Amino acid sequence: MSCNKKAYITTPIYYVNDIAHIGHAYTTIIADTLARYSRMIGLDTYLLTGTDEHGQKIEQSALERGKSPQEYADEISATFKDLWDDFGISYDKFIRTTDEEHKIGVQKAFLKMKEKGDVYKDVYKGHYCISCETFFPKTQLVDDEFCPECGRATSVVEEESYFFRLSAYQERLMAWYEERPDCILPKSKRNEVIRFVEGGLDDLSITRTSFDWGVKLPEELDDPKHVMYVWLDALMNYLTALGYGTDEKNMDFWPARIHLIGKDILRFHAIYWPAFLMSLDLPLPKHVAAHGWWTRNGAKMSKSKGNVVNPREVADAYGLDNFRYFMLREVPFGGDGDFSQKALIDRINSDLGNDLGNLLNRLIGMSGKYFDGRVECDMVDEYYQTELDEVNESLKKLEPLLFDMQLHRYLEELWRPLSVANKAIDKYQPWRLMKEGKEDEAMALNGLIATILAKVSIMLDPVMPQISPLIASALGFSIDNKSWNRLIIDNKPLEVFTIEKIPPLFPRIEEPLLANDEPSISSKKEKALEKASNEKKKIEITAQSEGIALIGIDQFFQTALKVGTIVKSEEVPKSKKLLLLQVDTGEEEPRQVVAGIKEWYSAQSLLGTQVCVVANLKPAKLMGMKSEGMILAAKDENGLSLIRPEAPKTNGTKIG
Ligand code: MSP
Repeated sequence: MSCNKKAYITTPIYYVNDIAHIGHAYTTIIADTLARYSRMIGLDTYLLTGTDEHGQKIEQSALERGKSPQEYADEISATFKDLWDDFGISYDKFIRTTDEEHKIGVQKAFLKMKEKGDVYKDVYKGHYCISCETFFPKTQLVDDEFCPECGRATSVVEEESYFFRLSAYQERLMAWYEERPDCILPKSKRNEVIRFVEGGLDDLSITRTSFDWGVKLPEELDDPKHVMYVWLDALMNYLTALGYGTDEKNMDFWPARIHLIGKDILRFHAIYWPAFLMSLDLPLPKHVAAHGWWTRNGAKMSKSKGNVVNPREVADAYGLDNFRYFMLREVPFGGDGDFSQKALIDRINSDLGNDLGNLLNRLIGMSGKYFDGRVECDMVDEYYQTELDEVNESLKKLEPLLFDMQLHRYLEELWRPLSVANKAIDKYQPWRLMKEGKEDEAMALNGLIATILAKVSIMLDPVMPQISPLIASALGFSIDNKSWNRLIIDNKPLEVFTIEKIPPLFPRIEEPLLANDEPSISSKKEKALEKASNEKKKIEITAQSEGIALIGIDQFFQTALKVGTIVKSEEVPKSKKLLLLQVDTGEEEPRQVVAGIKEWYSAQSLLGTQVCVVANLKPAKLMGMKSEGMILAAKDENGLSLIRPEAPKTNGTKIG
């Protein structure tokens, strides 16, 4: 790749209503990995991160703590910046939406959209979730009142507002998704977006008048009671960070190569953002990549719930690079992942300790014993061409995997050369070669191991930027664009070197290093909030195992449990959790059941499945749809499973 190619990589900007958790660290570490890789291969790279500081949620959080929003934002923004600095995140700019240049850029964009005829004034009537900073039409609410995303009560808003003509961009957005199949990654997420947009787009309210803490409208509009909607303000950071509307010297980094985000904010990035850009006559980002959610012991983790894993604590206890490796290796990008110390320890001991660390130790041992630490790599191809070919084959696959956001596959593939190396030692047995007087072959074998370790350390460097240079240095070279070109692209051998003895890189971990592996609920208020929201949502179908009371058999038989077969199954549009099922329970008509199981079962996979149904529940309404029963399921830290009859039973058969 040539040097004049640009790579602009962004993280979301984080709300300053609480400190960072591992979800934030995950996005930032992925972005940092991509940026480091891009720099290594010679792309002109710009990594952006920062904080999102306006909006009603931040204003409220500040007031609750008796602080001004600015004071509060300063404080929390600094904790993010400090964390990324301590984590060595290689950002080129840390933007804050309270930066003066940012505000100017947002105002200029607003004016431009207005001049274009895309902004008009009207009255907004509807529901607003302050926690998600999102407007919802009534049809999307749970029980006509609660936010479909977070379960909290929404507030009714009726206020004068400027609107953005989002509806006018529906066709152009569809054309973009069509023409650029990889504009949204992973590709499954693109389908979700297409389905949403196909359902029709309403114009978007982009100003608020009921609070102050936001970017004011441009003076030209002389409408001081309005502030910008926080998402318009926030999304614009990707442009204002490059100087849009002020000093545009970095605007040649636009369009972004990739916006990294979590799946919960995909709609804003894959629908609103490209529409805003079209209105501003700017090119669209090349990719928007949405990752999944980290849970803790199976429970959703979020700042507002308080059951957070503190990334600093984990990195301090287990090592920053080990933590980085774990996050990227453990979960396929786009899927959800559960954080546990056990999983982290397994990765460190097995992948890092056994496969990588031990290989280096073996090389140090063998070359020390037989050759006083001297390693020569120029005879490797003479004796071990097959192994070299296998290694180079794997290495060739890596870059596309990385830019396709298949980071776990990248690391999996990167471990193949290590396995080639470990197997080669077992197969060719250097001690035997030495005994048989085949010194050249033994030296070449050490050369093969060194070559593999050198190549792996280069390709691992973007993921593990502290440890990889230590491996390289033990092998007598340093990792940079030059060595990447030499060893990965040109497949040239390492220079002769004397191996440096270094202490073990991944000492074995026997016990969890952090005391508390249970979710920590940080305050009474948050506990209460969580309870209230769970009660209100009523979409969990798992039985609550707490506080089990003893009941008589007659009480048990008050519940009519029946076997039924799912005869129709479809997704509930715009719901992340719900499936709409028609279950044949032996009655005249199938029963309609709305079940919160979409995270674990696809609609398609359930067709024809037999399930156990609670058949005498009072009908309930979920997202406006009638639900006439409940399906039994069991949920633990490994996920949710439906309870099914062991052998097929006639529909309507009583259970009990
Ligand atoms: N401020 C907005 C983003 C504006 S970008 C123009 C925002 N901030 S946030 O702080 O709430 O979330 C930032 C990112 O963290 C999102 O991408 C979100 O998906 C991610 N995560 C929040 N909780 C998460 C997990 N539990 N797991 C993984 N990522 C999660 O949204």
